[in-house]
Amino acid sequence: MDELSKINEALNLIRSRYGKKPEVGVVLGSGLGGFTEHVVVGAEIPYNEIPHFPVSTVEGHSGKLILGTMGDKEVVVMAGRFHYYEGYTPNEVVFPIRVMQALGAKYLFVSNAAGGVNPGFKVGDLMVIKDHISFSIVNPLLGKNFDALGPRSPDMSEPYSKALIGKAQSIAATLGHELKEGIYFGVTGPTFETRAEYKMIHLLGADAVGMSTVQEVIAAVHSGMTVFAMSVITDIGIRDEENTITHQEVLDAANAAAPKLTAVFKTMIETLNLGI
Ligand code: HPA
Repeated sequence: MDELSKINEALNLIRSRYGKKPEVGVVLGSGLGGFTEHVVVGAEIPYNEIPHFPVSTVEGHSGKLILGTMGDKEVVVMAGRFHYYEGYTPNEVVFPIRVMQALGAKYLFVSNAAGGVNPGFKVGDLMVIKDHISFSIVNPLLGKNFDALGPRSPDMSEPYSKALIGKAQSIAATLGHELKEGIYFGVTGPTFETRAEYKMIHLLGADAVGMSTVQEVIAAVHSGMTVFAMSVITDIGIRDEENTITHQEVLDAANAAAPKLTAVFKTMIETLNLGI
C-alpha cells in the first residue's frame, strides 16, 4: 500500500471519532505532556487504534492523538512522538505529521528537549528554533516523491516561520518569560554526545542538539505547513565538569520548564491569526 492510501486509512479512523477539522497540529516532546491539560478534549485516540501509526516506546511519551479545542482553535495534539532511534523508518517517524496535515492542520507547533551548546544557555531555558542543521539524519523525503503531498525538493530557506518567531517573542515578553533563539542540531541519538561532539556542534554554529524534530519539520515543510518549534534546554553539553547526562535528568528538566513552554504555545495558538 502506498503512503497516500495509508494516510487516508488513518484519516478515516480519526474522522470517525471526531468530525471537526483541526487547524493546528502540536507535537509534544519528552516531559512536555502537561500541555494537553489545556485542551478541551473532543477525542483521545491511542496510537495503536490508528491504522499505520507506529507505537511509541519511550518512557515519558504516552502515545495518543488528542483532538479538541484550545480557545477557539481546533487542535490535534500528538502526546508522544516517534524517534528514528527507536527503530522506525523515517517515513514512519513523519507519518503522523502527514496525517495531521491531511486532516487539515496548516500549522505545526513542535516541542522537544535539547542539550545546550551555546555558552549563554542554562538548564530550563526555552529556545525558539530559528533554523536547523540536519546531521546524519536520514531525510524522510528520500525515495519516491508523492507529488500530492509536496514538491520533490522543497525550499528550506525558512523552515521555521519568522512571523511566528516574532509573535512568540512578543507573547513571551507579555508573559514575563525570556525566549532564547537558536539553531537546533539534529542527531539520531540514542547516545548523548561525547564532549568532543558537543564541542564540534558548538563550533559548527548550533546552539542546541537533540534527537527529534528535524524529520518532522522536513515533512511539514514539504506539505506546505507553517512551522513553529521550541526546545527546552535540559542539559548543557559543553560544561567542563560533571558532564554526565541521563534520560531521567532530561525528563525532570523538561517537566520543570513545561509550564513556561505550555503558556507560550497556548497563547500563540489561541491568538493565531489564521490568515498569516
Ligand atoms: N543531546 C541530544 N539530545 C538531547 C540532549 C542532548 O544533550 N538533551 C536532550 N535531548
